[in-house]
Amino acid sequence: MVKLTVNSSKTCLITGASRGIGAATARRMAGAGYHVFINYRTNHADAAALVRGIRENGESAEAICADVTDKESVRAMFESVSARYEKLDVLVHNAAIPLVPQRVLDLDWARDVQPQIEVNVAGFLNVVQAANRLLASDSGIIVLLTDALFHTPPVQMGAYLAAKGALWGLARAVAKELRNRGVRVNTVSPSMVDTELLGNYPERAREIFAQDHPLGRLATADEVAAVVTAIATEAGSYLNGTNIIVNGGSET
Ligand SMILES: NC(=O)c1ccc[n+]([C@@H]2O[C@H](COP(=O)([O-])OP(=O)(O)OC[C@H]3O[C@@H](n4cnc5c(N)ncnc54)[C@H](OP(=O)(O)O)[C@@H]3O)[C@@H](O)[C@H]2O)c1
Repeated sequence: MVKLTVNSSKTCLITGASRGIGAATARRMAGAGYHVFINYRTNHADAAALVRGIRENGESAEAICADVTDKESVRAMFESVSARYEKLDVLVHNAAIPLVPQRVLDLDWARDVQPQIEVNVAGFLNVVQAANRLLASDSGIIVLLTDALFHTPPVQMGAYLAAKGALWGLARAVAKELRNRGVRVNTVSPSMVDTELLGNYPERAREIFAQDHPLGRLATADEVAAVVTAIATEAGSYLNGTNIIVNGGSET
């Protein structure tokens, strides 16, 4: 099989892109001219519908199933990409599992904390190791995490905060170790975004957040995707090892 050359369309792989911020980013990256690999774990129907919508716009995308917590599954995903493309220009590690509100004293490591660490941290490690050979110089790797919460941590989010804190540390380590290859690693830290991730979060908590917010509402997935896309493309060419906070001026 003939591989597409470096001059062919740019490529982008987004983990957990069947819905929410990942799906919004996929639409924007496709609109920016990238061939987008829409990774998902179980939700084939949503991933396939997203691909159809992108193609109807005359843009380019395909769905690709892999569980980021499973090293072998991630390896197979990047093998399938590398069979047809010589390089990957942008990698966005976005996959996450829903938040389950729980006080720290009630947290169980295996039930509550480990699954968050696995998808966020082990997931990123698996993805970055398997993608390394394919990543082009001058690539952007963007990791999503929630920075504002570190400064003013809300209650009942200990498992998620632990995972995102570890992910932030790993992202900075990757930024340092890959910089000599010209691979840039930046993180985007939104505050609350209106997606299914918050499905277990009480409606009242969302309302209070919105009431207290300077803009009176949560962010939309597309508002975060706009920032991810900007820093993954030309606007981010001089950003490296940076964290961009997307919180609408909120202090929570
Ligand atoms: N929403 C917020 O308030 C908020 C705030 C700050 C940061 N963030 C971060 O932004 C990112 C996107 O969040 P979101 O709100 O858009 O989430 P979401 O709507 O719940 O979407 C999560 C995505 O991750 C996928 N996924 C879950 N486990 C996976 C696995 N093991 N392997 C591959 N894919 C997997 C899901 O696919 P399947 O359905 O196929 O499992 C889904 O596509 C996350 O990193 C999140 O922590 C979100």
